[in-house]
This record gives sequence, C-alpha cells and structure tokens, in this order.
Amino acid sequence: MYKDDTLKGRVALITGGGSGLGLDIANLYARLGAKVMLVGRTEESVQAAAEAINREGGTAAACRTDVRNYEEVKQAVEATVQQFGGLDILVNNAAGNFVCPTAELSPNGWRTVIDIDLNGTFHGCHAAYPYLKASSHGGSIISIITMLGVTGWPGAAHASAAKGGILSLSRTLAVEWGGDGIRVNTISPGPIGDTEGVRRMYIETGRGELEAKKTALGRFGRKQDIANAAAYLASDLACYVTGENLIVDGGRWLKYVAE
Ligand code: COA
Repeated sequence: MYKDDTLKGRVALITGGGSGLGLDIANLYARLGAKVMLVGRTEESVQAAAEAINREGGTAAACRTDVRNYEEVKQAVEATVQQFGGLDILVNNAAGNFVCPTAELSPNGWRTVIDIDLNGTFHGCHAAYPYLKASSHGGSIISIITMLGVTGWPGAAHASAAKGGILSLSRTLAVEWGGDGIRVNTISPGPIGDTEGVRRMYIETGRGELEAKKTALGRFGRKQDIANAAAYLASDLACYVTGENLIVDGGRWLKYVAE
C-alpha cells in the first residue's frame, strides 16, 4: 500500500537481515526504493538474501558481522557508507534466545543473550550515530523488542531483561539525539506465525492454538505486519514520531493486562 518511492534515496542497515523478520523488512525497504545493507553472523545467509534482492531489481549488499563485536559493527557501518554514500536508517533486529529456567541458566548463557540483544543494539546505535546525524532525511533507528520485556518473560529472563533494556536505551537516545534530527523508536511484535521463534517455541511444542488465543484478535501475525510497521517508522510518515514503542501484537499485551 506504500508508494514505491516511499524510501527512495535512503540507505538502511539491517542487523539479522538474512532471515526472519529482518529479511522481510529488508525486502520491503528495497521495494520502497532504499538501498539495504544486510548484516548477520552467517555469511552465506546474508549474501544469498542480498543477491535475491538484487535479482528482483533492488539494491542490496551484505556483510558478515557479529553484533557482539563493536569493531565488526563499526566496520559494517563504514562499509555501508562507503558503498552507498551514507546511512539514514538503522534496524536493530538481530537477536538470540533460548528457553531456560533462570535457576538453571549459567552466567555465560545470560551474558550471551544480553550481549547479542542489548549490547548488539548499543553497538549499532553508537557506530551509526555520526552518519545518522549527517543524514539529509533525518536519521531513524528502529529496534525490534517485545512487550515480554515489559511484562517479564518467565523462562527467558535474559531476553526479557535485554529487550526491556533496549526500550529504555531507545527512549534515552530519542531525547539525547532528537536535536541531531535522529528519531529512535522500537517495535514490539506479538507472536508472528511465520517466524522460526514461534515455530520453535509454540507450534512445535503443541501450544500454537493456546498462544493464538492469548491475543485479542485470536490469531498470529505475519512477518509482513512487522515489515509494514518498520517501513512506517523509517519513512516521512513518521517524521514527528520518536521515543515510541509501536506494539504490533494483535492486542496480546492488552489482553494479558486486562484478564
Ligand atoms: N539452554 C541453556 N543454556 C543454553 C542454551 C539452552 N537452550 N543454549 C545456549 N546456552 C548457554 C550455553 O550452555 C553457554 O553457556 P555455558 O558456557 O555456561 O555452557 C552459553 O549459553 C552460550 O552458548 P553458545 O552455544 O556458545 O552460544 P552461541 O553464541 O553459539 O549461540 C544463541 C547463542 C542464543 C544464538 C543460541 O542459543 C541459538 O542459536 N538460539 C536459537 C536461535 C535464535 O535465538 N534465533 C533467534 C530467534 S528470536
């Protein structure tokens, strides 16, 4: 429903862009005219995704990057600027988690998820800052979190703490960097039926129907719903929106609170 030139002339870097939500966001951004840099831990996956976008007539490149490593993130940002001439949009989408009761979680397991999700997001924001500040469109940072970072997430304390931390970081940066023309927002997806996470955690464990019923709309979302939200926040349609957490969860969070 967006016009094809909604993101024309912009450059976006998407972490975890080789698969899942990141890939759908990258595909939509490219269709709307943005040049996209896909970064991820698995070289083949980001390369293949970038090639597919280029074959479809978009403009994409790929860079193997572990978001836990600040130097690698900085290099990915610099490679983006070198290749595409600037950076206007940063999408912090890379995440990792596993279910484990907190009493059984090792300190290294805790650290690993905090490192990918929270530290990785900080690394992206920090490395991208000077280029986002220089953007002629105004910079935009979008980080993917979850309302489970606000309500708590039994069985995934590491991911819950990391996502809550990203929300707080984003609100802080929205104020600190607003004067630099940089908007900083988050998206909180609910259960998205066509993602690996929901398949692994809900569908394969036989909890699919139960989890769908926990939403007000009674169904899972689609990756496209999150990509649409990410396109809105990156575009001029959202030019006065900053420090916002856009909840795209079919009313799951509200139903949790209400019942
Ligand atoms: N249960 C308990 N502890 C676990 C675990 C699990 N399922 N998976 C990893 N850990 C612990 C490891 O035991 C290790 O701690 P230790 O050294 O004390 O034993 C620590 O976490 C690091 O594990 P490692 O396998 O070395 O980490 P990694 O960097 O290779 O991968 C993840 C970390 C989170 C990416 C990995 O767990 C993973 O692949 N998860 C599924 C994929 C995913 O998260 N996709 C994103 C969906 S949103």
